[in-house]
Amino acid sequence: MNLPSILLAALLSSSLTTALNLRKRYDEAPFKPTKCAVKAKVTQTAACPISGLPDSTGGITLTIAPEPTSWSKPSPSSLFQVVLQNNTEVRASVDDGIDVYDIDIDSSAATFASLIGAGKYVVCYFSAGTMETWRSDFGCFNHNLGAQDLGCDVGGPWANEFWVNTSSTEVRKIMQARIQRAADLGCSAIDPDNMDGYGNQNGIGATEEDSISYVKFLSREARSRGMGISLKNALEILPNVTSDVDFGVNEQCNEYDECDSYTPFWALPTPLPVFNIEYPPHNKDNWTEKYAEKSCDESLDWGYPYMFTDLKNYPTVTCAVSRCTEDGPSPAVPNGGLVIPSGCVDGMQYN
Ligand SMILES: *[C@@H]1O[C@H](CO)[C@@H](O)[C@H](O)[C@H]1NC(C)=O
Ligand SMILES: *[C@@H]1O[C@H](CO)[C@@H](O)[C@H](O)[C@H]1NC(C)=O
Ligand SMILES: *[C@@H]1O[C@H](CO)[C@@H](O)[C@H](O)[C@H]1NC(C)=O
Ligand SMILES: *[C@@H]1O[C@H](CO)[C@@H](O)[C@H](O)[C@H]1NC(C)=O
Repeated sequence: MNLPSILLAALLSSSLTTALNLRKRYDEAPFKPTKCAVKAKVTQTAACPISGLPDSTGGITLTIAPEPTSWSKPSPSSLFQVVLQNNTEVRASVDDGIDVYDIDIDSSAATFASLIGAGKYVVCYFSAGTMETWRSDFGCFNHNLGAQDLGCDVGGPWANEFWVNTSSTEVRKIMQARIQRAADLGCSAIDPDNMDGYGNQNGIGATEEDSISYVKFLSREARSRGMGISLKNALEILPNVTSDVDFGVNEQCNEYDECDSYTPFWALPTPLPVFNIEYPPHNKDNWTEKYAEKSCDESLDWGYPYMFTDLKNYPTVTCAVSRCTEDGPSPAVPNGGLVIPSGCVDGMQYN
């Protein structure tokens, strides 16, 4: 099939698809929230490293970035690697075949030096839709008296992580500081996670409108600093933000049967790439060859050549990864193809 007919087939299948299943990734067992009593105020003891915060009067000044003019975009044919574990050390070589690395903003200086030095498109990951209690700027949250910043905990393994009010000036100021930090680190783009609070028991009445407004805010702040921005999951709002993002990052769109939601990205004059991650079935069992092949086949059917799928922990090694190719899953690349993944230890959840 040539490209136009692939796109046409994708568009047709998209129009036949019934309404997207609103994804409630964290509301189902085993990820149900455990502390869903909305907290009006957390007693803070941690220090806040952001200037202008905390502001106990609630009179926070947020200066919005100027209208962006030009910013960095990944090539539509980029191969990618996602390494979100905060203590993983990543080193790249120029010829490792990977164009885009998506790494935690709190990765080590050596990790940034290696990837940027090798000319990689470095995407800085942070959670924009939740507060994580182990982050260095944790002490900046929830001083915004009179407004509710924190909602339910995310649940499951993320019980120390809380949905945030994405309309709060305080939350936006914290995220603006993170975006500035990403720019200072030399990141090419940001990957703001947990943009889909609206689909979860969030405790702060988050809506799709809130997320759309938040994407536009984050996009302006990132692009005006020369960086691109992803849309992470949040497929329900994708049609509303196609001009505000530069690529997609997805988890399990094959497994959830919703990769076709990206057709608006691929129908653009310059199609946007999508970096998709498939985890082992149910995120706990080993991959079987059959399941991996099916996953890759679906991935290619949907968006090739603009959708790239990595199979995480394939086939049995904790940190191994396989890439879907036209011939099916590539042989597992030990350690995800990373040259020195010194933080990649047995039993670690890869991202
Ligand atoms: C890494 O994240 C975990 C939670 O997943 C946290 O407990 C730990 O303190 C973090 N480590 C660093 C160095 O930030
Ligand atoms: C979220 O923040 C906005 C802006 O400060 C505020 O108007 C709204 O009431 C807050 N939401 C909740 C649930 O408190
Ligand atoms: C998002 O876009 C869709 C399709 O164009 C539209 O129907 C919907 O109302 C928009 N949602 C919001 C919250 O603006
Ligand atoms: C995955 O496969 C390995 C090697 O065959 C085996 O030791 C391990 O128990 C399997 N894990 C699960 C969850 O089935």
